[in-house]
Amino acid sequence: MNDRKKAIGIFDSGIGGLTVVKEISRLLPQERIVYFGDTARVPYGSKSKETVTKFSFQNTRFLLEQKVKMVIVACNTASALSLQALREEFKDLPILGVIEPGAKAAVSRTKKKRIGVIGTLGTIASGVYEKNIRELIPEVLVIGQACPLFVPLVEEGWINKQATRLITEEYLTPLRQAGIDTLVLGCTHYPLLKGVIQNVIGEEVSLVDSAFETALAIKEMLTNRSLLRESTDEPEHTFFVSDLPLKFLEMGERFLGRVLPNCLKVTVEGL
Ligand code: DGL
Repeated sequence: MNDRKKAIGIFDSGIGGLTVVKEISRLLPQERIVYFGDTARVPYGSKSKETVTKFSFQNTRFLLEQKVKMVIVACNTASALSLQALREEFKDLPILGVIEPGAKAAVSRTKKKRIGVIGTLGTIASGVYEKNIRELIPEVLVIGQACPLFVPLVEEGWINKQATRLITEEYLTPLRQAGIDTLVLGCTHYPLLKGVIQNVIGEEVSLVDSAFETALAIKEMLTNRSLLRESTDEPEHTFFVSDLPLKFLEMGERFLGRVLPNCLKVTVEGL
């Protein structure tokens, strides 16, 4: 098959990567997407680099079996812990994570050079956002804050609850006190909490949505490599998961903003 016609492969630890799918569908509606959500092994956010890298290799091999033209690591934790190893292993494959686009956008927005980053324990402990930001502007203050309760709150649909607001205040108060002017939403789930996060951190702080920034970076990469799909037919997307929890389809609709057209259970562990 002509490479332009092939699908974009995307993987995440579970459902959160659908926030990236949503942005790609908006920006590149002609592109076909094959999505793999590792719902049997989620969460990645509390796992070691070694484990997350092993999972990321298997997920990538699975997507390659689906004959994709590029792989997007939609999960912030997997991007932080395994992107480098993936690029070394799969040398000829275009691979993009969500951290470089998010870091780049934060650098272009900050005026005071004071940037906050929120994410899972794994993402924040890795310091990868900070490293990427510092490579672009060395004289910058970057403050990371792990927000491990945000993922379960979003998955429960607790977007507008009082408890969510209190937890958000607890997490974000140190960032507000540090006078940041830009905050990176460094986790797939956080765009769903944009309302409460903006409210607590203050309207003057610019929120960077990594999912949106990644879609822009995908467009640029496909354009530069002459890999954009040219057909205007509506593309058929395919969704795979490693376990099909009862709530997956319901949650999927919340993340994607529309009903998931299909969802198949597969095993990637032996890959
Ligand atoms: N997808 C993960 C991330 O963006 C959040 C969920 C998890 O911990 O696996 O970091």
